[in-house]
Parts: sequence; structure tokens; C-alpha cells
Amino acid sequence: MAVNIAIDGPAGAGKSSIAKRAAAALGYIYVDTGALYRTIGLNALRRGVDTKDAAAVIGTLADVQVSLRFVDGEQRVFLGEEDVSAAIRTPEASMAASHVSAIPAVREHLFALQQNIAAQNNCLMDGRDIGTVVLPNADVKIFLTASAETRADRRCRELAEKGMPTPYDEVLRDIIERDYNDSHRDVAPLKQAEDAVLLDTSALSFDESYAAVVKMIKERIQ
Ligand code: DC
Repeated sequence: MAVNIAIDGPAGAGKSSIAKRAAAALGYIYVDTGALYRTIGLNALRRGVDTKDAAAVIGTLADVQVSLRFVDGEQRVFLGEEDVSAAIRTPEASMAASHVSAIPAVREHLFALQQNIAAQNNCLMDGRDIGTVVLPNADVKIFLTASAETRADRRCRELAEKGMPTPYDEVLRDIIERDYNDSHRDVAPLKQAEDAVLLDTSALSFDESYAAVVKMIKERIQ
């Protein structure tokens, strides 16, 4: 049986960078499920579809082929044969992902893909509903969070490093709006699973957060 670790939490809590490094240390694959919702959002944007219009977004699903490939342990996300791993990281794609992820048909569309990867690989999977919906029987569940201001600050630095400098106020506003969307939708809202352990990283450095996550995992799987 593959070992599955679920890491959920709001945007910018540090899930991806921490989970990526922890997965490498454990020899597991790191699965970023947000990339799947971003790809569907990106595809809708490219087609000029209003990402809040459920019927229109559902209309784009029939010919959207989203897949994950792992190259040297690194996840790449594909829209058909196009590697969109970089294109999905813009603020527009983030907001589009938040909109499309509230549509039940979109979540269903991505459900089997996530479960199949987890069944076949020891993995650390990050998202919003991994511990609650996708992998309810995960071996370890961690809910990683931080204050909205801390997360905005981190996201700003990340965007600047990627050559997309964005004003702090805009990033904070986006984070607050996405938090609201993600935790108030009817299907699979962002919430801590009852059996998840909570880690608030507001006052922790990256190295401290990483060490705390690895400790939680090792305590539970060994
Ligand atoms: O983790 P991220 O910022 O890349 O996620 C992008 C959006 O996708 C986010 O607003 C919420 C949504 N999402 C989701 O609903 N369920 C997941 N398992 C992962 C992401």
C-alpha cells in the first residue's frame, strides 16, 4: 500500500515549498493539486469564458485534458501536450482557479486523477480538501495555516522572485478573497479534517516550518 500524506490549508501558507522539500527528503512524490484547478481556470480564461459562469466552464471540460507528469521527481502539469506549469502561476490564473474550483463538476472531473496518483505512489499531496474528501484515509493529515498578512508577504516575495512583482495590497486583497471563496463554497470547502494536526507557521521561518512538518510525518509513519 502506498503511503499517503495530506497537507491542506489556505493559499500562501507555505504548503507547496514545505511539502516539496519534505517529499524529497522522504523519497515520495509531491503532488500539487492546486495546479489542476489552475489549469482548468487557465483554459477557461484562454477561451474567453467567464470563470464564475458554471455552465460555461463545464462546457470547456469535455476537451480539456489535464495531466500530471513527474520529471526527475518534479511535477509538471499539462494541458493537452502543452506544459503549462509556468503559465498557471499568474494572479489571473489564481483567481480563475478559485472560481472554477467551486464548481462541483470541475471537482468531480479531477477526483479520479488525484486518487489514482495516490493509490500508485507514496506521495505528499497538497490542496484544500485532500484530508477531508480526496484521501479521507490518508496516513497523515496536516493542516498548515498562517495569518493572511504573513501569507501575503510571502506571496509578494515569491511573485517578485518569479519576475512578476505585484503590490502588497493587491496580493493581500486577493488572498482574503480567495480564502473566502475557498472556505464558503458548498462542495469540499477548505476546512481542517477532524483528524488533521494543525500547524500555524505565522511565527515560524521556512526551516522551522519544514522541520515541524517532517517531525509530524515521521512520528506518524514510523
Ligand atoms: O493551492 P493553489 O493556490 O495553487 O490553488 C488554486 C485554487 O484551487 C485555490 O483557490 C483553491 C483551489 N483548490 C481546491 O479547491 N482544491 C484543491 N485540492 C486545491 C486547490
